[in-house]
Amino acid sequence: MGAVIIGTGSCLPKRVLSNHDLEKMVETNDEWIRSRTGISTRRISGAGEETYRLATSAARKAMEMAQVTADEIDLIIVATMTSHMVMPSCACFVQKEIGANNAFAWDLNAACSGFLYSLDTAAKHVLVDQDKTILVIGAETLSSRTNWEDRNTCILFGDGAGAAVFRYEDNDRGVIGTQLFSDGSLWKLLYLHSSPSCNPEILQPDNPGPYMLMAGQEVFKHAVRAMEKAVKKLLEKENVSVDDISLMIPHQANIRILKKLMSRLGISQEKVFINVQKYGNTSAASIPIALDEANREGLLKKGDIVLLCSFGGGFTWGAGLLKW
Ligand code: UT7
Repeated sequence: MGAVIIGTGSCLPKRVLSNHDLEKMVETNDEWIRSRTGISTRRISGAGEETYRLATSAARKAMEMAQVTADEIDLIIVATMTSHMVMPSCACFVQKEIGANNAFAWDLNAACSGFLYSLDTAAKHVLVDQDKTILVIGAETLSSRTNWEDRNTCILFGDGAGAAVFRYEDNDRGVIGTQLFSDGSLWKLLYLHSSPSCNPEILQPDNPGPYMLMAGQEVFKHAVRAMEKAVKKLLEKENVSVDDISLMIPHQANIRILKKLMSRLGISQEKVFINVQKYGNTSAASIPIALDEANREGLLKKGDIVLLCSFGGGFTWGAGLLKW
């Protein structure tokens, strides 16, 4: 297989925003948020914690674990939709910060599925150019694009970054396969516009301004169905059974989505890594942050089969399988 993750890292902003803090900002309460989402706290970035800085810090930790120097990095992909600039990309800022002078770099926007899409891209690059080292980062500061007066969304999201270093190894470890999907026809159920070139007419009747808009219940239903289908298709294609899976690391959006998914897949909660209670939904950062935490907690052993899955705006969704 070949495209092996040889190091992981993550970085969370310092400020913790609790459900009790939110009670003072919008009409909500801790009990409602915990029972409907599983979230207790989330991290919110402040000065000096822009997306590229969180991404850089996560990258440095992943490189340290991988024992890779900046000069050895050939490609940097940052999955994000909240870079502090549209141009240059967040990835170019990371390149500058870490001094990866031999790398080329770009951002990939697939909303909450961004890390999975980037992993797929990285794995294919590694298989074609077997001497390449690739840094993949998922990083977001959605707090800057959240309407803090909208209780439908402001309780859900948080900031953070996670990173993984990929390198070719001539053995049976690495990315086994992926199944990725998009459906742009459903864009109005979850979107965030920031571009002056966005025609306001297409946003009628609910122009949310520069903030995220989400039809929560619809997104919820689509997320469960879509991830279930993607995972089942991938397992069938790769001839892997649910019992073969050592750990599932899903996108962390809502504990109820995850519980429904576990039940439909027949996978027990002990095999699912969950940290949504601490960080909320960090979009493209959620899988790599969870991957890094699972890795540093010693939950990933060589040879383990790891299942990733995600769902997000676009819609974008998919699943990935790794042999650790
Ligand atoms: O990363 C992928 C993108 N996002 C997602 O995956 C999120 C998917 N959706 C969800 O997680 C859930 O739909 C939410 C957590 C957003 C909402 O949960 P829900 O169970 O679907 O609640 P709801 O929207 O059906 O609202 C139920 C009630 C409503 O009151 P009424 O009409 O029953 O009186 C809402 O007005 O809860 C009310 N409500 C709240 N109450 C207290 C909505 N938000 C809040 C709130 N606090 N923050």
